Amino acid sequence: MAQANWLDLGPLEEFQKTEITEAAIGRTKIAISWRSGTFGVVSGTCNHAGGPLGKGRLDGDYVVCPWHNWKFHRCTGAGEPGFEDDRVPAYELRVEKGRLLVRTDNPTARHKKPHPPHPLARRIERRPGVTRVAGISTTNMDEANPRYSTSDFLLGVALDHAREALGCETKLIRLSALKFRNCEGYYSKSANACTWPCSITQMDAADELTEVYEALVHWADVVLVSTPIRWGVASALYFKMAERLNCIQNQITIRDNVLIRRKVAAFLITGGQDNVQGVAGEMLCFFSELGFHFPQFPYIAHSRGWSAEDMERNVEHVMNSGELREGARQLAARAVELSKNLLATAPMVEHTPRGGRKAFRLEIERE
Ligand code: FES
Repeated sequence: MAQANWLDLGPLEEFQKTEITEAAIGRTKIAISWRSGTFGVVSGTCNHAGGPLGKGRLDGDYVVCPWHNWKFHRCTGAGEPGFEDDRVPAYELRVEKGRLLVRTDNPTARHKKPHPPHPLARRIERRPGVTRVAGISTTNMDEANPRYSTSDFLLGVALDHAREALGCETKLIRLSALKFRNCEGYYSKSANACTWPCSITQMDAADELTEVYEALVHWADVVLVSTPIRWGVASALYFKMAERLNCIQNQITIRDNVLIRRKVAAFLITGGQDNVQGVAGEMLCFFSELGFHFPQFPYIAHSRGWSAEDMERNVEHVMNSGELREGARQLAARAVELSKNLLATAPMVEHTPRGGRKAFRLEIERE
């Protein structure tokens, strides 16, 4: 019979200062817990996406992963009730002469309960057919009592033109009609904690940003984004969406996994006052990092200037401006034309070495 191998982890007091301590057996991380006078030792690596269980917290007798809150029993390694089959290795322990010893040769087996992949995680394949144009309106709106929105209006003109004159399929997504959560900064826990599909999307079936992810990643060839200017920047809803799109950009950073290929983005920006160029610059920068291409002259915009406070006249101006309507139509036409060219001539590549703004080898790749 094989000899038991015991490793001296250190004096007991070291592991009684906090409820959970991270330690290692060689290169294998373990999570040591202390509660109600007993120790427990399980693997320090979560079954979900490798989160550090030894940096988590205790909920009763369960270790809660600090990344996305999966739970494992601190002594047996079993998943929480209902997920018992999802287990991480558990280790035998012994207390001897004031020291904590762990047996290293017979941890229980890790078992990952198969979880069906989120539908968004499916392979990205362009369905054959006419050019598909998604319009994303980011203006805030009381859906029950809608007001006239200049950016919405011009987006509608562009989509109508794409559908009626250019023969495209179109889809309008109004962020104000979707219930979706703020990004909760998984990236700031670890780049690997920010997942595709988005961690929130995977955990919260009621979160409706799925519609935007579906459109951007799987459905659309062209994305037209409209925003008002609020205090010199795009709308709050635009930023709420952009933060949640970090998971698309993060795939490029950590996996060289470019989800957006051969797709085109263009923008419609309106505001009563100024900073059109600042807003356009921010949007161009962000969408370029997602992997989008831009047509020549990738945005149209209108503002009445710094001193303008007569917003009702701004609305009137946009409503009656044939030039702005024509500008919206031509923006759609340029974007659709570029999309057709890209789909016809640009080869579909699987990898973009060192794509994204971090065009250098990252520490995280060496971990
Ligand atoms: S819950 Fe542990 S890595 Fe996601």
